[in-house]
Amino acid sequence: MEEVQTPIIPIVGDLVRGRPGTISLGQGMVAYGPPPEATDALSGAFEDPRTHQYGPVEGTSALRSALADKLRGENRIPIGAAHRVVVTAGGNMAFFNAVLAVADVGDEIILQTPYYFNHEMAVGMAGCRAVLIGTDDRYQLRVDRIAAAITPRTKAIVTVSPNNPTGAVYPEEALREINELCRGRGVYHIHDEAYEYFTYGDVKAFSPGSIDGSAPHTISLYSFSKAYGFAGWRIGYMVIPAHLEEAVRKIQDTILISPTMISQTAALGALKAGASYCRGKLRGLAEVREIARKAFAEIATFCAAPLTDGAFYFFLRITTPLAPLALVERLVEEHQVAAIPGTAFGISSGCSLRVAFGALEKETAAQGIGRLVRGLRQIVKESS
Ligand SMILES: Cc1ncc(COP(=O)(O)O)c(C=O)c1O
Repeated sequence: MEEVQTPIIPIVGDLVRGRPGTISLGQGMVAYGPPPEATDALSGAFEDPRTHQYGPVEGTSALRSALADKLRGENRIPIGAAHRVVVTAGGNMAFFNAVLAVADVGDEIILQTPYYFNHEMAVGMAGCRAVLIGTDDRYQLRVDRIAAAITPRTKAIVTVSPNNPTGAVYPEEALREINELCRGRGVYHIHDEAYEYFTYGDVKAFSPGSIDGSAPHTISLYSFSKAYGFAGWRIGYMVIPAHLEEAVRKIQDTILISPTMISQTAALGALKAGASYCRGKLRGLAEVREIARKAFAEIATFCAAPLTDGAFYFFLRITTPLAPLALVERLVEEHQVAAIPGTAFGISSGCSLRVAFGALEKETAAQGIGRLVRGLRQIVKESS
């Protein structure tokens, strides 16, 4: 545990609380809550004795069956005898289940940098080694480098699209290449689709689990947290090959026993609202993204802010000798705005920051971005 990084969100949270009035562009959450269909589904749930008992370790059959329909219809994953759908207490747990199920202590898991910090932490906690492969200047996959990093100890390649912390959406061809690489080299492809609905313009997220013949080596991870404003209800799910069912059941039985019953009832309701609920929120997010894009363009001489096609993040590369955490501390102290240091995502050279714009109403987000740009201008000038 001493080697596992300390979660950064509470650290930045403390800075924000210590400077009242700070606008946080830190936490990757959405500003909205669950759809009314989720609330409606709860009526009578408290009176139902099943709500208060343990349920099936892999989730209720009603929710798993609704998820299978969603996966077939939206993700084109032909859920059948080769697959199992498992409900988890969020996407993070789904990832941990996946790592514990496929890897032994000392095995290697390939992650792309910048990575989602909880993935790297989970790999370390499982006693495995995270092998880090840098993405390119636009945060896209470098398939050749990933292929070259595979060793006899490699158990899985992890991809996240749309991506946290960069917003990058990987094209179908790139994900097909990775999936084929995994098939050919006998490793798993773990693909995190927590932000599947969060894409802009005509861009669509592709599910590698839909590729013919991918079932035996593909693990697909999902979350209700962002799509349905459900972060506090802790519901996610995973599609695993049938041969991993027993392993995942052992892990989940030990860690969770069963996913929370009342949350599963609410999730079943939320699924009735479906993808359109989240897509309806995208216009507002796209407006904030555009405000941020324009603002960052003004400081392009010392701040690269690649515009990506998904999620609700910008990953900034700033030309300054300052360390990222020192920069964040000054931004909070002097300009009342917070972001997350790039070091938390495995970027140790240079100075990078993740800016999240999903958790705030448009006006507040615009104000926060304004403060960030002014703050960066001033601090970078003073420290150069
Ligand atoms: C890529 C990614 N996967 C998983 C999660 C965790 O989601 P959950 O709340 O479902 O555990 C997040 C949360 O930020 C995320 O960014």
